[in-house]
Amino acid sequence: MYSEKLLDHFKNPRNMGRIENADGIGKVGNPVCGDVMWIYIKIGKNNENQEIIEDIKFETFGCGAAVATSSVITELAKGKTLEEAEKITNQDVIEILEGLPPLKKHCSLLAEQGLKAAINDYRERQRSKT
Ligand code: FES
Repeated sequence: MYSEKLLDHFKNPRNMGRIENADGIGKVGNPVCGDVMWIYIKIGKNNENQEIIEDIKFETFGCGAAVATSSVITELAKGKTLEEAEKITNQDVIEILEGLPPLKKHCSLLAEQGLKAAINDYRERQRSKT
């Protein structure tokens, strides 16, 4: 039912935890199951002076599929520009995990929406500074 890849990300989640003084925090809830996800991002600059996701971590009360999809999305987003990171979808994550049972698709949305919410939160904070 679950791929080896998914089980690996579930048992050894990458980037799980919290970033103190994060530049952006996304908190989203899953309307299907009521679980919650937090994504924390730290923003830096690349050689071309573009803003990138320098560090990213997640915390969740979600299920194993939510943990595995968050683990993958944090790996995908790290080092990307904000524009690139915004384009990551739960479908990209599901492909890397070699599929997800249909009943668990809603869990993968938490990670995607959490990442977008964290980027939005960062942009809001920047706007309110100006
Ligand atoms: S059942 Fe809630 S996130 Fe998977």
